[in-house]
Amino acid sequence: MRDLLPPAVAVAVAGPADWAGELLPDERACLGERAVASRRRDFTAGRVCARRAMATLGLPPAAVPAAADRSPVWPAGVVGAITHTRDYCAAAAARSADVRSVGLDAERHKTLSPEVRRVICLPEEEDHCARLPAGTCWQMVIFSAKETVYKVWHPIVRDWLDFLDARVELDPAAGTFTARIAPARLDAAAALRPPAVLTGRFTVADGLVRTAAVLRHD
Ligand SMILES: CC(C)(COP(=O)(O)OP(=O)(O)OC[C@H]1O[C@@H](n2cnc3c(N)ncnc32)[C@H](O)[C@@H]1OP(=O)(O)O)[C@@H](O)C(=O)NCCC(=O)NCCS
Repeated sequence: MRDLLPPAVAVAVAGPADWAGELLPDERACLGERAVASRRRDFTAGRVCARRAMATLGLPPAAVPAAADRSPVWPAGVVGAITHTRDYCAAAAARSADVRSVGLDAERHKTLSPEVRRVICLPEEEDHCARLPAGTCWQMVIFSAKETVYKVWHPIVRDWLDFLDARVELDPAAGTFTARIAPARLDAAAALRPPAVLTGRFTVADGLVRTAAVLRHD
């Protein structure tokens, strides 16, 4: 994941001990007493990674609670994102003076059913995938790229973005993706200056699809 983001963004990937690491009181309160073990593990690894990424930036330890909509609440002056999928967790953090927003996502690399693909991919994205080299579920890469896009978008706009509101194009040779946001969504959020186009990077390796993107200041 480190290689997918620029040096201004600190990235931490969970090691084995991090899944049972320490939460700060505000984070514990968000998780609640009744969280099942798997949720507790994921949430904990995410917070441990978030703190490690912030420490890399030279920032003091601070809680990253969750808002009511589940989005992470970063300390003032920090932007960041968290992802976890079975046995893999990573967090990215940056000073908000350096970058406007950041997103990252990891997914197991597996094929998606036609029903799921219809929810995620526009017809032109399916056509695009059909022209790419065989052996990779490119729709899964598009899915992950869109989750990354959402994690960049949401802290700025604080509103929903549907999977079909972004059109993603992949460049496997360069390991990059380009996401174009639907004009109606941009118009609706115009006052917040949302990004019309977002470029990011991806890898497919070790059974994982990883995507990440950073939005710089204008
Ligand atoms: C929020 C969402 C993107 C999370 O992705 P996921 O693959 O389910 O799970 P990940 O492990 O990668 O990410 C989970 C983390 O995302 C973060 N997250 C949750 N909601 C978020 C939001 N609104 N904005 C930013 N980050 C969010 C949290 O830190 C969460 O981990 P935590 O609950 O332990 O704190 C996904 O659940 C979702 O709602 N997707 C629909 C919206 C979307 O992706 N649209 C595509 C637009 S092109």
